[in-house]
Amino acid sequence: MKKLSSNENIFLYAIRYVDPETVNFLKKTGEASTFYYKLKSNSLGLQITFAVVYIIIVSSLIMLSSVYAINIANKISKPIIKLIYAAKAVSAGNLDVKLKDEKEDDDFRKLYQTFNIMTQEIQAQKNKIALTERYQAWEMVAKKLAHEIKNPLTPITLSLERIKDRYSKQINVDKADFENYLNIISRQVEDIGKLVNEFSDFARMPNPIIKSNNLKKLIEDTINLYKLSEKKIIFNLVYKSSNEFFEFDLSQISRVLINVVKNSLESINEKQETDNNFQGIINILVENNNEFIYITIEDNGVGFKSTPKDLVAPFITTKQHGSGLGLSIVSKILHEHGGDLNFIEHSNGAKIKLSIKIN
Ligand SMILES: Nc1ncnc2c1ncn2[C@@H]1O[C@H](COP(=O)(O)OP(=O)(O)O)[C@@H](O)[C@H]1O
Ligand SMILES: [Mg+2]
Repeated sequence: MKKLSSNENIFLYAIRYVDPETVNFLKKTGEASTFYYKLKSNSLGLQITFAVVYIIIVSSLIMLSSVYAINIANKISKPIIKLIYAAKAVSAGNLDVKLKDEKEDDDFRKLYQTFNIMTQEIQAQKNKIALTERYQAWEMVAKKLAHEIKNPLTPITLSLERIKDRYSKQINVDKADFENYLNIISRQVEDIGKLVNEFSDFARMPNPIIKSNNLKKLIEDTINLYKLSEKKIIFNLVYKSSNEFFEFDLSQISRVLINVVKNSLESINEKQETDNNFQGIINILVENNNEFIYITIEDNGVGFKSTPKDLVAPFITTKQHGSGLGLSIVSKILHEHGGDLNFIEHSNGAKIKLSIKIN
């Protein structure tokens, strides 16, 4: 509306149609600008709020990540510290240390297992060396003894022959007695000679020659060897193993079987001395798994008179004419075959379990 003349009240009134939407926009723009200016005046407060929120979030993130990092570091350093202590113990000679892997992750578990296997192997190696040294010491003693006994044995035998030759004809009184005494000396000297041979055999035992041999046949042969002479003893063989052929030194394992069976026979014979009708029984059981052949020999003789383990050492015998070498030889041969001999609790006699490693 506009006044057209200053003197007269003449006005121009013009109307234009406007879209209500546009009016609305205008209104909204006004509101928005008001909001903007309001915000602008408040901007300092907002900035502070934002900064505070920012600091809180960042610092909690830093805290979280440090806790996490410390945790990870602990997870890595703890097992390493454990490993260092174990290694120190091993270097100090304690091979019994075992690393337990309950809480560790996969890599450490593997590392621990490797460590444990390593200490076990060192221990086994150490035992083997100790055993070899012991056998060598035994052999030395046997060799020395054989030598010391053998030396006077030859002149004794020669002198005996001479006495027989020269004086037998001259003796007229108690001639039978004279010859009897000479025979006793001669037999004793022979016995000592056999013992000496056993000693030097033990000292000179060669390394085993491992070949495929029929174990079942060897055991049967050993039993048959005694069956003829030992009428009052029953032999039972239970051959449970599915294989008959195994790798071992035939003559050495034969010697093992003879030594062990002979001990059983002698033990039963001792019982029969007081009870002539006593029925002796020797049971032999053969089994095997993937690693070992097991031969168990059980008798109903007098049983062990002392701790059986002690009887393995050489020259220890409870017999009048024993050499005490039988079980030492058995032990040495079995160890050279990767096996062992074990004494099993048995109330009525003796029970020995032999093992031979399968290659
Ligand atoms: N089957 C057995 N029953 C009872 N005692 C045994 C048996 N085997 C071995 N022994 C004991 O072990 C000792 C040592 O045996 P060994 O080494 O063969 O030597 P030896 O037979 O010459 O005495 C024997 O003297 C005996 O006391
Ligand atoms: Mg013997």
